[in-house]
This record gives sequence, C-alpha cells and structure tokens, in this order.
Amino acid sequence: MSFKVAVVGATGNVGREMLNILDERGFPASEVVALASRRSQGTEVSFGDRTLKVKALDTYDFSDTDICVMSAGGNVSKEWSPKIGKQGCVVIDNSSAFRYDQDVPLIVPEVNPDAVELFSRKNIIANPNCSTAQLVVALKPLHDVATIKRVVVATYQSVSGAGKEGMDELFTQTRAVFVADQVDVKKFTKRIAFNVIPHIDVFLDDGFTKEEWKMVAETKKMLDPKIKLTATCVRVPVFIGHSEAVNIEFEKPITADEAREILREAPGCQVLDKRENGGYITPLESAGEDATFISRIREDSTVDNGLSMWVVSDNLRKGAALNAVQIAELLVERGLIHPKKKAA
Ligand SMILES: NC(=O)c1ccc[n+]([C@@H]2O[C@H](COP(=O)([O-])OP(=O)(O)OC[C@H]3O[C@@H](n4cnc5c(N)ncnc54)[C@H](OP(=O)(O)O)[C@@H]3O)[C@@H](O)[C@H]2O)c1
Repeated sequence: MSFKVAVVGATGNVGREMLNILDERGFPASEVVALASRRSQGTEVSFGDRTLKVKALDTYDFSDTDICVMSAGGNVSKEWSPKIGKQGCVVIDNSSAFRYDQDVPLIVPEVNPDAVELFSRKNIIANPNCSTAQLVVALKPLHDVATIKRVVVATYQSVSGAGKEGMDELFTQTRAVFVADQVDVKKFTKRIAFNVIPHIDVFLDDGFTKEEWKMVAETKKMLDPKIKLTATCVRVPVFIGHSEAVNIEFEKPITADEAREILREAPGCQVLDKRENGGYITPLESAGEDATFISRIREDSTVDNGLSMWVVSDNLRKGAALNAVQIAELLVERGLIHPKKKAA
C-alpha cells in the first residue's frame, strides 16, 4: 500500500526537512509532490537522490492526493487545509491555525497517539509548536510515574524556528559585525547576532507572549489539562536546535536516578547526563538528530518532589517535520487511511 503525498512549503526550512525525513524513513509513498507559492514554481528541491520540480499550491488539484503535510504558515493553512481536507486528503499541519480546535487532534505520537482517531472530523491533524513537542516527549514518561503538578520552563530557541528568513538574519548580522558593517534588523525585533531576545510571537494582554501561551495550551491538550505550566520563551543566536531549562514539581516522590532510568527507556528520549565537563547535550549536537535529549537531571530541594533538567532537540525535526511524518506513519500503521484510486 502506498500513498500520494504533497509537501506544502517544500522550499522552506520545515518542508525541506520533511522531504529528507520522508526519504530517510522510507515512507510508503507512490509519489511525492513539492508545493510552494507561485514565487517558487519551477524551482527544484531535493528528495533523496532525486530532484522535484516545485509546483504552485494554488493551481494544484488534491483530488487524487492522500496525505498533505503543510508547512507554509498559519494564513496559508487557514485558507487551504479545510479545502484540502474536504477533498478527502488528510492534512497534517505544522502551523498553529488548527491546534486549539476541539475537532482537530494535536498529536505527538510518543504522548497521545490514540487521539489521532478524531482526525476524520475535519481531515486535519495538527502538529504542535516546536518547543512543546520536545517538552512533552520528556514530560510524559515522568508524568506517568510521578504525576506532574507544575512546570516552569525557560526556552532557548534557535533562529530556524523563525523560518529561513530567521537563519539568514543571524548569518547576515554576524558577518556584518565581523566586517564592521552596518547591522540591519528586519526579521527579529532587536539584533540577534551576539544577543538574546526574550520575545517570540506577539504579546498578549497578560504580558505573556503567544509562544509562551502555546506551550501552556498545547501541554494541557496533549498531556494533561491539570498540569500548571509557566514559560519564558527566548530567541538565541543558534541556527538549529531548541534548548529548555525545565523545573518540575511532582505529586509523588521521584529521585534524579529514577527519572534518569525512566527517561532512558522512554520512546523518543535519549539521556546524556554525566556530571563532568561536556557531559551534557548542546543544540549544535542535536541538529540532524531525531531524539529529544535530556541532560542535567537533578533534584530541586526548594519544592516538594522537585526535579530540574535540560531538554534539547532539533526543532526542524522532532519540533516539526519528523513529528509530522511520524503522524503519517501512525495513520498508516493503524489502518486509518487508504490510498485513493489514482487516474490511469
Ligand atoms: N521552523 C520551525 O522550527 C517550526 C516548527 C514547528 C512549526 N513550524 C511551522 O511550519 C511552518 C513553516 O515554517 P518554516 O520554518 O519552514 O518557514 P519558511 O522557511 O519561511 O518556509 C515557508 C514555506 O511556506 C511557503 N509559502 C509561503 N507562502 C505560501 C503560499 N501563499 N502558498 C504556498 N506556499 C507558501 C514558502 O514558499 P516560497 O519559498 O515559495 O515562499 C516556503 O516553502 C510555519 O507555520 C511554522 O510556524 C515551524
């Protein structure tokens, strides 16, 4: 059984990674179609050892396409995902457009795979925000054992989370600093080269940012509505890989050694935790990897049943493209999707 797959946003950071991952994992695809805006029509993108010619989304006919992985931003998704879903093609969307819709499952396969069954209500499945995806992969196995009450998280998010323009801005500004040229600020609100910016997405009335709110809402939707979570999201001058300093308060006692053992066995997690120089993961090493890495696991004696840890993952992979492909694999494994009859 094989499926016709469309990748929308195929020229972008997430879309290109999506094509790599579909190829690497040998997803059962009879055909993969690369779609982007009209600007990119006719350009080429790599898919394994092949190149695909990019087609324009707005002239593409989805009637014989089975799965559409969508990474072209919220506005494109709001306009297109419902139309594509109505044509019987399952949309797996990377934007925030449908994440909080009760009729759209929000899925991390290691955390809440059973919720995927709801997809048929709209034929849309949402992929979480990059910072939430890696966080819940690390929290879920600990929550199952010791029940999380409250989480305090500070993120250190790479510029690739802001798309290819974000990566270009870090590169251009860094070069400008080195050659003593003028440093232009376009994509971010302040200079990102040799700096950190405590602001991602728009401000809300309560002083939190939308990125911080997403981490709260998505953790509750996927893991447990009873978990209290507060976040500070920060953009840092790193190209790929989001890091998180996480403090957790549990209902039941749990030691650092127990947490380490639980996480070593947990799906999608890799523990790298030696109390010595370099005995921890940094975002540079996470780039190109599938795992959510956990380091610096230690007990926090300032609260009852407290633990602190450091969680790092490649935001373009587990935070976006890998998770989306895993959702597509879940649909196939559970027999929830069947290839449409293709025109001869
Ligand atoms: N980066 C991350 O870590 C991350 C993580 C989770 C979720 N996401 C989400 O994934 C989405 C894409 O992010 P990204 O980082 O890949 O952004 P990006 O590098 O800026 O790429 C955007 C892609 O969307 C395409 N696009 C823009 N307008 C379009 C239109 N009107 N019709 C069709 N295609 C259009 C672009 O095509 P052109 O090249 O033709 O303009 C490009 O392929 C966003 O919704 C983002 O929030 C990103």
